Amino acid sequence: MTASSGTDRDSSQDARTADFVVVANRLPVDKEVRPDGSVHWKRSPGGLVTALEPILQSHTGAWVGWSGVPNSDDNPDIEGIDIHAVPLSTEEINEYYEGFSNATLWPLYHDVIVKPEYHREWWNAYVEINRRFAQAASKAAAHGAIVWVQDYQLQLVPKMLRMLRPDLRIGFFLHIPFPPVELFMQMPWRTEIVEGLLGADLIGFHLPGGAQNFLYLARRLAGHAVSKGTIGVRSKFGLVQVGFRTVRVGAFPISIDSESLNSLAKSKAIRARAAEIRAELGNPKTMLLGVDRLDYTKGIDVRLKALSELLDEKRVDASETAMVQLATPSRERVDSYIAMRAGIEQLVGNINGRFGQVGHPIIQYLHRPVPREDLIAFFVAADVMLVTPLRDGMNLVAKEYVACRSDLGGALVLSEFTGAAAELRSAYQANPYDLDGVKDAIMAAVDQDPAEGRRRMRALRRQVLAHDVERWAHSFLSTLAESQPTIPSVDRTLAPAALDENEPTEG
Ligand code: ADP
Ligand code: G6P
Repeated sequence: MTASSGTDRDSSQDARTADFVVVANRLPVDKEVRPDGSVHWKRSPGGLVTALEPILQSHTGAWVGWSGVPNSDDNPDIEGIDIHAVPLSTEEINEYYEGFSNATLWPLYHDVIVKPEYHREWWNAYVEINRRFAQAASKAAAHGAIVWVQDYQLQLVPKMLRMLRPDLRIGFFLHIPFPPVELFMQMPWRTEIVEGLLGADLIGFHLPGGAQNFLYLARRLAGHAVSKGTIGVRSKFGLVQVGFRTVRVGAFPISIDSESLNSLAKSKAIRARAAEIRAELGNPKTMLLGVDRLDYTKGIDVRLKALSELLDEKRVDASETAMVQLATPSRERVDSYIAMRAGIEQLVGNINGRFGQVGHPIIQYLHRPVPREDLIAFFVAADVMLVTPLRDGMNLVAKEYVACRSDLGGALVLSEFTGAAAELRSAYQANPYDLDGVKDAIMAAVDQDPAEGRRRMRALRRQVLAHDVERWAHSFLSTLAESQPTIPSVDRTLAPAALDENEPTEG
């Protein structure tokens, strides 16, 4: 993705509208102002942008989002995407983004791995900023346009936008897990959030379990009639009757641009770089790899503790093993992230101090994003990919690794608590809370018989190459385009007077 610097359009172009509009907290590019005052745009972090950027390249449309820095309304020039920047002040970033989005919603939706904080002033900022995004989307959308709202930062936008623009067709996709009902009920503004989402025509989750939880809450909290029956994957949608409108609720597991990674990974240049990486590591017998945003949900500590014990027990030979951990800086002003980073860096230091040699640390840890081509070379080079989140909506890194292994080499260790685990059945799966189980999964991957490894990788690749991000977008957008049926009265479940005993939870 390339973007030119500075403000690239004058205000006379402000009336521009599009038939397809993506609304996300972040723009696809992140603004960087260097000490000399020059402006640079780099790819925004995270899986949302990885997934959606190729979709916008093939569908052409507008993207409404924030540039990642305070008080900026620069619209970078990106080929094929009409950018509408939403400015945020420093205080708004603090309360809406770092506060309500990432210290309230993020931990609540990820199994309360850290304790969510509930502050009324953060909620007020969340409402206000969601309104700003809804207004910006309303301006960017042509009459009858499709507007696709993304993720937990913008859950009130569907309802706010519908009030401004009833002519639009509105979709919403949640990129993170939707929590079990028992946890969601902690949220002081739970009904407002459910009603905000119900402004959409179609609400998408990664897994049927999350969709099912939401359907239950639409009845329980917002008092709407909902359909009976089990929600499927890209099929058997749930229905919520909101007055005269019927809202669909479904499961659409997200993916990656599999073919582009597959072909890039085969290139001579990438293969040469992969060989170079192994040589730089001292040509270890086994190269382990972790690639994540530095986030407490990712279980980076889990894999480090597992490796540390394996080294202690001599099940892994320190002289023959190297691990690379690439960690993109993330949400660096949020307290829980500051504490987690200190813990990870201490673990890395501890393992290297105990088991490394001069010129051969066990773990090479890079706290920065690496260029895309380099990242692909790391995937091609690694014998064992460690993906050990405590909870993750999908985890695109796991799919990227698989897409890069046309040589059928390598092995994937994958946490059961990722959305990807539902699809990547041939990975070495483990419960990240069970350290012995994680250690056994790592050893099974390290010691795998080459024929067994090829069999597993072939099965993983079949899944990832067939279910790419274009298919994900197509299944969501074609469902959104269909007309909405009303729920036949025999299939309706009305709002209960009290909480049911058998509440569904995310599966
Ligand atoms: P999340 O969206 O929570 O960050 P995902 O695994 O779904 O997690 O997506 C992460 C995306 O960011 C992937 O496309 C991955 O390749 C990319 N990424 C993660 N870490 C790095 C890194 N250190 N350098 C470059 N890209 C990275
Ligand atoms: C996850 C979220 C995205 C978010 C990304 C990066 O993928 O689902 O909404 O953009 O992480 O996080 P950040 O806070 O840097 O935008």
